[in-house]
Amino acid sequence: MKEVLCPRINVIREAFAYQSRFTGSTMIFKIDFPIIASSGFSYLMKDIALLVNGGIRVVIVPGCKEWIDAVLLEHSVLSEYSGGERITSENAIPLVEMAAFNVATRYMTALSASRVDAVVGNFTRARGRGVINGIDMMYTGTVDKIFTQAMRRILDLGVVPILPCIGWSSTGKSYNVPSDEIAIAAASALGAAKLFIVTGGDYLKKEQLATPAHTRYTDEGRILRLNPREAEEILFLNKNDGETGKEKEKCLGMLRFALSASASGVERVHIINGCEEGAVLNELFTNLGSGTMLYADEYEAIRGIHNSDIPDILHIMEPLIRQDILIRRSAEDVQKKKDDYVVYVVDGSVHACGALHDLGDGQAELAALASDKAYSSMNIGRRIVHYLIEKARNLGMKRVLVFTTKTQDWFELLGFRETSIDTLPRQRRENYNYKRMSKIFALELNAPQNAAHGSTR
Ligand SMILES: CC(C)(COP(=O)(O)OP(=O)(O)OC[C@H]1O[C@@H](n2cnc3c(N)ncnc32)[C@H](O)[C@@H]1OP(=O)(O)O)[C@@H](O)C(=O)NCCC(=O)NCCS
Repeated sequence: MKEVLCPRINVIREAFAYQSRFTGSTMIFKIDFPIIASSGFSYLMKDIALLVNGGIRVVIVPGCKEWIDAVLLEHSVLSEYSGGERITSENAIPLVEMAAFNVATRYMTALSASRVDAVVGNFTRARGRGVINGIDMMYTGTVDKIFTQAMRRILDLGVVPILPCIGWSSTGKSYNVPSDEIAIAAASALGAAKLFIVTGGDYLKKEQLATPAHTRYTDEGRILRLNPREAEEILFLNKNDGETGKEKEKCLGMLRFALSASASGVERVHIINGCEEGAVLNELFTNLGSGTMLYADEYEAIRGIHNSDIPDILHIMEPLIRQDILIRRSAEDVQKKKDDYVVYVVDGSVHACGALHDLGDGQAELAALASDKAYSSMNIGRRIVHYLIEKARNLGMKRVLVFTTKTQDWFELLGFRETSIDTLPRQRRENYNYKRMSKIFALELNAPQNAAHGSTR
């Protein structure tokens, strides 16, 4: 196989795979107000326009809090809050409406620049929050219903519905409804494939939060993805730690928002920095993304292989073959032992492989282990090994062997210990490649405790 000369080719492949998967699906963008004032806003809107032109059905829910505060201040109307929620007085509601529509119009203008049509609409039916703990919330409302039929008709035309933070009761009364709530309700009612929480900063990084040991980070310390259980763990680890920093509270607020969306049935919620150029496209069209994803569905898994995985397996092995770490296998070789192989799949793409061959005499060989370099140090290699060890155990094997020329330290870390050729089953002993002189390592499965058990994640 010829070496890939253009490293971007893998990114292009990923992008095409995602593009065909997302065409026709609905995505909701809840965008924080401060982004409008940032230099990244025009790029963000251009990228969103690209998605619309590419056949993705986009809904925008503009955040407006800071702008409403500014408008109320300008008109000398007091902004009062209770339990973190605005109490919208009779004096305030016309100004809130004005501010909300003013912001929504700015989105419409930005989309027009990319020749994408948009409508600001009354798609939210609301009712009053009423009296909470003795406090009348007045014109602050909650979502009663999202008018999905009207929205779907608009989306079918390739037009972007924009939902301001206002809802109307059946009697035509206006309420100020939190945009987070509208975004979740719209995502859930429309069966959206994704909800994007577009923030104005780089959040959910290693240094900002206490996180469980198994959290997956990128090299720069960004939390890559979480399932709802892991997100709950982070909330638990960071509660009452005496640190009430504003940034940290923002991170936790975003996680709570993402978790509520997930609990409402939105399978994937992405938290991204809207001020970073290309953040949406990067998050959407690459496996590593640019933000943090909360996923409720099956995102990564180890599974047996299909014929269509074989080119990907050979592709991942190739650089290791060039470095003489792995021996070359043909597509037929893999096909013949198909049942022995497993792959590690991230969002439908193969990122690692491995095989377990039965050598007889209660011994198995772990072989063809290869992990995609672009995804190294994410525990993928380790998980494949643990999976295959577990498989060997379930098959009643006593021992797992591995033949390695360059990875002995790593296998030792996982509990394997060097052994001699005399301990191999006869046939494997006879097939031993004396030119290659691989070192032989073994993991005894009936040993009471070993590192491989301790580090399973
Ligand atoms: C070893 C291998 C599977 C690691 O893949 P991975 O997905 O990055 O694995 P993990 O994330 O579980 O482990 C990464 C850790 O192991 C370390 N590591 C990787 N290769 C290593 C090696 N040869 N020796 C010692 N440590 C190694 C990394 O530095 C990293 O350390 P960190 O967690 O402190 O950052 C991958 O490099 C590979 O495919 N190597 C070839 C495997 C091989 O020899 N196959 C033939 C025999 S079957």
